[in-house]
Amino acid sequence: MKNNIEKKIKLLEDKYAQMGQDLNGYLDGLLLSNYLTYWDYTQLETLLTLQNPKTDFPDEVIFIIYHQITELYFKLSIHELDQICNNGLKILPNGKNEGWNKKLEVPFFIERINRINRYFEVLTKSFEIMIDGMEKEQFLRYRMALLPASGFQSAQYRMIEMYCTDFINLVDKEVRAKFKIKKTSIEELFNHIYWNKGATELSTGKKTLTLEQFEKKYFKKFIALANENKTKNIWQKYLSLSKTDQKNIKVINTLKQLDINININWPLVHYKSAVRYLQQNTEDISATGGTNWQRYLPPRFQKRIFYPQLWSNQEIEDWGKGWVENNVFKH
Ligand code: HEM
Repeated sequence: MKNNIEKKIKLLEDKYAQMGQDLNGYLDGLLLSNYLTYWDYTQLETLLTLQNPKTDFPDEVIFIIYHQITELYFKLSIHELDQICNNGLKILPNGKNEGWNKKLEVPFFIERINRINRYFEVLTKSFEIMIDGMEKEQFLRYRMALLPASGFQSAQYRMIEMYCTDFINLVDKEVRAKFKIKKTSIEELFNHIYWNKGATELSTGKKTLTLEQFEKKYFKKFIALANENKTKNIWQKYLSLSKTDQKNIKVINTLKQLDINININWPLVHYKSAVRYLQQNTEDISATGGTNWQRYLPPRFQKRIFYPQLWSNQEIEDWGKGWVENNVFKH
């Protein structure tokens, strides 16, 4: 035991000496410092101050908290995407940094993408909290106090897309084919990003305020990220694998599952909530900024597909169809 402690003290001395620091001072600090608590480590008290409804309708708290939960899962997804795209930094048990793991290895690739699959599966399943877990009457009233804010303005949702695929796949499908991919800048492609369609006023054809504010805040960040990821997004990482690894069925299925989770399953449960709250028999309730959400949100209209090369023409043709018929309209 004593021996062990001596060894550790020696290691600590070396660690601090490398930085020109004296271990003695740090040991004093250790003697004086308080024990770590759960509430400080998780910053729980701060976290629980972040739910500030705009109205007195009790269900608005559910709406805020569920959005926050979703953003945290988005953050976890980006945390993994960032490691795959930037060749994962390996930290050894001795705390030393092994440096960048230059060669992307298949088990790491599969395991990390599966983490994201798991996050989106949890989000898809838990979306019932939105669909069934709030009173429609309350929702329709408190949402008026939230205009023109919308989940549409979730930057992390768009960043996940920019990490997952070549930027061309995020261009509106009607114009996608006309661009010469290698010769067109990200800035130009951005003018035709698919989400413009979900943020155009039905009556005037103008960009909604929701979109204008979103672009004002994040345009530069998006352009920088998309440029940075041109050569190292998940699809490019897949192409950097050997030909044999690219044919590995586990790798292919993991990527296909990611495509289904992010571009079909989550958008569909989300759409289902819009149907529950905004669709009425006589007249549809307009979405944030008066957009045509019925023609925009369903995946079969957007046909946003990260890995079209992995799907057959028929599968692309049928993108998102069966699910809508089976689930949404039975509700
Ligand atoms: C009752 C619950 C919800 C309803 C009724 C709803 C409704 C809508 C509607 C109508 C749109 C179309 C754009 C607009 O007009 O604002 C939209 C977009 C969006 N919402 Fe929600 N939403 C709900 C919950 C959520 C939650 C919990 C999130 C999580 C962050 C979210 C994220 C998004 C995203 C990312 C978009 C853009 C989708 C795209 O561009 O394809 N929504 N939502």
